[in-house]
Amino acid sequence: MHTGLKIPRHAAIIMDGNGRWASARGLPRSAGHKAGIDALRSTVRAAADFGIEYLTIYSFSTENWSRPRAEVMFLLELLRRFIRQDVAELHASGVRIRVIGDREGLEKSLVTMLEDAEALTRNNSKLNLVVAFNYGSRQELTRAARLIAEKVAAGELDPAHITPELLDTHLDTAHMPAPDLLIRTGGEERISNFLLWQSAYAEFVFIPEFWPDFNAEIFARALKEYSSRERRFGGLKAQSA
Ligand code: IPE
Ligand code: IPE
Ligand code: MG
Repeated sequence: MHTGLKIPRHAAIIMDGNGRWASARGLPRSAGHKAGIDALRSTVRAAADFGIEYLTIYSFSTENWSRPRAEVMFLLELLRRFIRQDVAELHASGVRIRVIGDREGLEKSLVTMLEDAEALTRNNSKLNLVVAFNYGSRQELTRAARLIAEKVAAGELDPAHITPELLDTHLDTAHMPAPDLLIRTGGEERISNFLLWQSAYAEFVFIPEFWPDFNAEIFARALKEYSSRERRFGGLKAQSA
């Protein structure tokens, strides 16, 4: 039991450090990515046990295409394998899968696979597992701006009605709550183009351990740290009526 823990409604994780985890063991980077999948499995289970409603995981960024082709291919294959092997079990345990990121430019068969996983699990409500794949926040915001501009150009939208809430509904994360807690493993303390807009008031927790070593215990530690934070949202401490 984890009494006294404040549970974020939405936790987002930058799963970083797979390559360094592998190098430290004299293994190829791919071994780190593979081990990262095991950490992901136990993290999803832990998130459901903690009662988290939304778990967003950064699995491949728009900038990750700049890695060596073999590594990119390996990561794409790993996603396919994860979906193929895990969707049935995730579905059975009540997990709803959602994918954010740019689907343009991805192979058609991969896109179909992702869409099928979303469709299969769409009525589940135990945990929303949001997979950020080919995701970049600046690209997402650019796409939103373009969609809004097209509506204005078509005479469907008055620019005076462009509000933060309207922009929100044009993002991949439309209709999801903003992350309350953003965790990054692997020791780097940066956001790397992840949920820039959505993290406006997220609490950041940086974990020194590499992603393949992440587990329920480290997750609980991050939640403990989160619980000790005072969120003010620009207001004042312990505001009362
Ligand atoms: C995170 O681990 C996984 C992805 C970015 C796909 P890295 O591959 O970035 O591992 P490090 O940061 O090089 O150790
Ligand atoms: C962020 O990690 C992307 C993912 C975890 C998928 P990176 O390893 O790509 O980020 P940088 O290059 O260290 O900023
Ligand atoms: Mg990295």
